[in-house]
Amino acid sequence: MQSTEELTEQQAPSVYIDDLKNHEGQTVIVRGWLMHHRDKKKLQFLVLRDGTGTVQAVAFQDDLSPETWERFKELTQESSIMVTGTVRKDDRAPGGYEISVSDLQIFQVAGADFPIAPKEHGVGFLMEHRHLWIRSTKQRAVLRIRAEVIKAARDYLDNNGYVLVDTPILTPAACEGTSTLFETDYFGTPAYLAQSGQLYNEANIEAFGKVYCFGPTFRAEKSKTRRHLMEFWMVEPEAAWMELPGLLELEEGFISYIVQTVLEKRRADLETLERDTSKLESIQAPFPRITYDEAIEILKKNGLEAEWGDDFGGDEETVLASQYDRPLFITHYPAHVKAFYMQPDPNRPEVVLCADLIAPEGYGEICGGSQRIHDLALMEQRIKEHDLPREAFEWYLDLRKYGSVPHSGFGMGIERLVAWICGVPHLREAIPYPRMLDKIYP
Ligand code: 4AD
Ligand code: MG
Repeated sequence: MQSTEELTEQQAPSVYIDDLKNHEGQTVIVRGWLMHHRDKKKLQFLVLRDGTGTVQAVAFQDDLSPETWERFKELTQESSIMVTGTVRKDDRAPGGYEISVSDLQIFQVAGADFPIAPKEHGVGFLMEHRHLWIRSTKQRAVLRIRAEVIKAARDYLDNNGYVLVDTPILTPAACEGTSTLFETDYFGTPAYLAQSGQLYNEANIEAFGKVYCFGPTFRAEKSKTRRHLMEFWMVEPEAAWMELPGLLELEEGFISYIVQTVLEKRRADLETLERDTSKLESIQAPFPRITYDEAIEILKKNGLEAEWGDDFGGDEETVLASQYDRPLFITHYPAHVKAFYMQPDPNRPEVVLCADLIAPEGYGEICGGSQRIHDLALMEQRIKEHDLPREAFEWYLDLRKYGSVPHSGFGMGIERLVAWICGVPHLREAIPYPRMLDKIYP
């Protein structure tokens, strides 16, 4: 095999496909992977992908040396190649430009059995070949939108004075209940993969006021649904002095900004996914708010069995959210269905000052958040009631001893938001390498 340097030792500059517009009429080299190849006797049509875009390259036998012409016969799907040619504007071409080929170098002829042919495959098969499936047009569109979502989420928080403070992944205690912990051995004592960075955010606000963490989180969810992953990425803002109304304003501003930014910057990818973008245009703050009590009434009116005290599952969330064209806040859940750290409503201590944000179109909960207990005695009591090991929470109790303040925060699962924005039904396509109940390969 030749080195890439030998191959590029030519006059023409190497150019990325999305930069071809700046090289009209020039001879350039485009390096990438072959997506399609059509052989029409004296003409060859190649569609090439380089990560920044796709372009068609056209080769005429009469323009090429016999040796170069012979090379086209070796080409297989996904071969890594370098095409030299002139950039021509062509309004019919996807991307608006075409390459008239003067030379072809093949870096590697891909195995002829590339498993993902341009035909329908079952999802099971595609997931087994996720490392190759991510090359396909729709998967790339989803993952680019994911990158934009992450950037927009971070920009929004950075621009609003939230400081990124990283939180640990190996932790001594549970944040979101003990039933979904991944346990590991930490030199003889058990440690757990973080379910959330929240408890550390609560320490960090007493140093920085407004913070967020962003990283992978882990849940040993024994359920097999389209909304649950074992490993997902969460962005979690937390702010001192913020109470429930301020929290809802932060969430609706944050989500609206992300959705509108994706619409602006990744419209072509949304088109690739055939997403109905009118449904995203309407995602603007403020979002509707109902209480848990009102939600129970709505469910009953819609013929669902719902008793005060029940937690909501995906079906209930879908019915509730379907009444609105934008995400819906449900606030004031019964304390016993929520986490130990949530602040009780002072007027009605059986409910907590919390909010779940439910996406439209059946995508379920995208954000979970609350005001936190700031009172030391009440926090001690909750830790006891929830049977949590006090030793592991001493540091967390310190936060209530030394300058405690009312504070709130929320967590947003990146994959839930990406799946909804992209209109893909299952979270497994919203993350490059999903970890699911029955799956840790590739
Ligand atoms: O509602 P959750 O469990 O809240 C927390 O973890 C809080 N400690 C966050 C905080 O207040 N800082 O999770 C928050 C969000 C959910 O709304 C959902 O978007 C996502 O994380 N999520 C999951 N995403 C994929 N797979 C799972 N198994 C998920 N569990 C939660
Ligand atoms: Mg939740």
